[in-house]
Amino acid sequence: MTDAKDNAPEVFADLFGAEFRTILSIFHEGVIVADAGGTILYYNDAQGRIDDLPPREAIGRKIVDVYDLSEAQSTTMRCLHSGEPVVNQPIFYRTRLGRFANVVSNVYPIRRDGRLVGAVSFTKDYQMVEKIVSPPSTGRTPKTPGNGTRYAFGDIVGSSPGLLAAVKTAQLAAGSPSPVMIFGETGTGKEIIAQSIHNYGPGRRQRFIPINCAAIPENLLEAILFGTTRGAFTGAEDRPGLFEEAASGTIFLDEINAMSPSLQAKLLRVIQEKRIRRIGALAETPVDVKVISSLNEDPYRAVERRTLRQDLFYRLGVVVIAMPPLRERRGDLPALACRFVGRCNQAMKKAVADVSEEVMRLFQGYHWPGNVRELAHVIEGAMNLVGPGEAFIDTAHLPPHLRKPDGVQLQGPPASAPPTICPAAPEAGSPAPGAAPEHAPVENLVQARDMVEAAAIRRALLASGGNVARAARVLGLLSPQSLHYKLKKYGLNRKDFILSSDINKKN
Ligand SMILES: Nc1ncnc2c1ncn2[C@@H]1O[C@H](COP(=O)(O)OP(=O)(O)OP(=O)(O)O)[C@@H](O)[C@H]1O
Ligand SMILES: [Mg+2]
Repeated sequence: MTDAKDNAPEVFADLFGAEFRTILSIFHEGVIVADAGGTILYYNDAQGRIDDLPPREAIGRKIVDVYDLSEAQSTTMRCLHSGEPVVNQPIFYRTRLGRFANVVSNVYPIRRDGRLVGAVSFTKDYQMVEKIVSPPSTGRTPKTPGNGTRYAFGDIVGSSPGLLAAVKTAQLAAGSPSPVMIFGETGTGKEIIAQSIHNYGPGRRQRFIPINCAAIPENLLEAILFGTTRGAFTGAEDRPGLFEEAASGTIFLDEINAMSPSLQAKLLRVIQEKRIRRIGALAETPVDVKVISSLNEDPYRAVERRTLRQDLFYRLGVVVIAMPPLRERRGDLPALACRFVGRCNQAMKKAVADVSEEVMRLFQGYHWPGNVRELAHVIEGAMNLVGPGEAFIDTAHLPPHLRKPDGVQLQGPPASAPPTICPAAPEAGSPAPGAAPEHAPVENLVQARDMVEAAAIRRALLASGGNVARAARVLGLLSPQSLHYKLKKYGLNRKDFILSSDINKKN
């Protein structure tokens, strides 16, 4: 850190003691302190990283010179002239290395004995917005390469009535241009459903653009959604917003109830008129996007609490999908646990069969506040602790809070199926082996027999590492051909059962 102590005039040393300066120096936000004339007295390392400028090259210079701005354009100078704070100002500019900086600035006046002696500016770097907006990087194969998704309906596990109703509504809604609103607690699968809708609809080849409305300050969110024109505000460039970028694709407005009411009103206008006007522009551009929104509470309650405008709810909630919490669909626990064990088998090159019956009993009694995401994390944590000779996840592998029943009264015996070997999960996006039976409620004996047969085949394939001839022998079949026929029948692919370690050995 370049310490301003040596360079700064006395007013700075007076205002900020050494301890305070140490705090500012380790701040994640950029901090600039200027005197009443706009000369930089202090400039921390974080600001240097945002601006691509070493602090020593900024300290002692006029702020308008460093940023090449007029006094009217500079937020610090505006604060110094008015004596009032200038808050939440989005600023886009190019650094001296030509990088695009995307920041929000808050500037506050500093007074001493009632006299204005300077201003302090805090700058938050929203380069990370690019990360929030762009598809999560997982190293997995996207469903439709480049469209920004990882999931499709085939990746959704569970057959409880609540989940099946959500999937069915989502599939119907995918074919129409109507907006869809998904609500549910954290980790219930709102995003997986949103991506699946996109991948099932006519716009699947276009982009799926998620934007987390809770993570971005209002001014910046408006600029990101609707775009800007050069000169609309300090440093604004001609930039299309996400509504334009998603052309014919899907925009996923995650946590819509975190959006301010005024921005919700602007959004309503765009959705009603299907036209967008970039900030500072006169002309309007037609937009054609599927809008999926999500919120973590019942939208009717959000309307009551005034976190969601009623008029916007009517527009966005043409189709409403409720994601039930995991504690209300405990019957899905065995299938979900099996899927996550399978996925970990693949990632960790292990061959764990399943969770033990005792673990499933504990799972059935737990209230799962983090829902499916929490289950996935619990299983991943446990899989790390399963030793080489162990075939099941046992209570000893669970975190302490899960080892004791948490008081939920179970009705009847746990919905645990007899343990089966959980196959390594396929790449997300490809049809899951046996996915169809998971969604299909058992209606008759034929279906029940098929499910048992498919499970036995999956076990044999996993045990044989995907070798069809060996699996056929284990299953007591006369020829590998008859197993090939059954693989086709159940949509199973032997390659999904080859552990990655075996693939490596073969290559
Ligand atoms: N039915 C399901 N089958 C398989 N995986 C699921 C299912 N539901 C959720 N998941 C997995 O659980 C995790 C959380 O799901 P997702 O991100 O869709 O939840 P969310 O409702 O958007 O949560 P949040 O409100 O916290 O953003 C993801 O890894 C997702 O793949
Ligand atoms: Mg989400």
